[in-house]
Amino acid sequence: MAKARKLAAKDGKQASKAGKPVIYVLNGPNLNMLGLRQPEIYGRDTLADVEKLCHKAGTRLGLAVDFRQSNLEGELVTWIQQARTKAAGIVLNAGAYTHTSVALLDALNAAETPCVEVHLSNIHRRENFRHHSYISLAAKGMICGFGPKGYVLALEALADIV
Ligand code: DQA
Repeated sequence: MAKARKLAAKDGKQASKAGKPVIYVLNGPNLNMLGLRQPEIYGRDTLADVEKLCHKAGTRLGLAVDFRQSNLEGELVTWIQQARTKAAGIVLNAGAYTHTSVALLDALNAAETPCVEVHLSNIHRRENFRHHSYISLAAKGMICGFGPKGYVLALEALADIV
């Protein structure tokens, strides 16, 4: 049994739903604007389209996807804390908080739940301030530059771990 599910079992909680490992797919600020926001960078797909893609991949991979978005740093921190006992893995696109948030890094380290970091755009081809990620210090790995497909790749990577 993977570490996150062991921790959850120890705490008497369930990191699985109907026998399937739960994966939190968490989205940070401004990702609710996908489809409208700088389509030349982020494409025309909406966040609802990305969510559909994740549920489809979850069904194929035997994962229960719990898809969320918040513009609030504290709410993301709370969800990551909950993941310790309620999720077997995390896919995280923290948006701009990627580059600023020690609080999200601390939450990920405390969660002891494997995390794959995702970005729609290739952050290394963009402004210098986007090249540094606090999330990467805690993530198993990072996928960027492949648009919504990056979320599917992250779920595939987690399916092998959880
Ligand atoms: C992003 C990249 C971040 O730099 C940016 O602040 C975002 C979206 C991406 O998915 O490419 O909001 O995380």
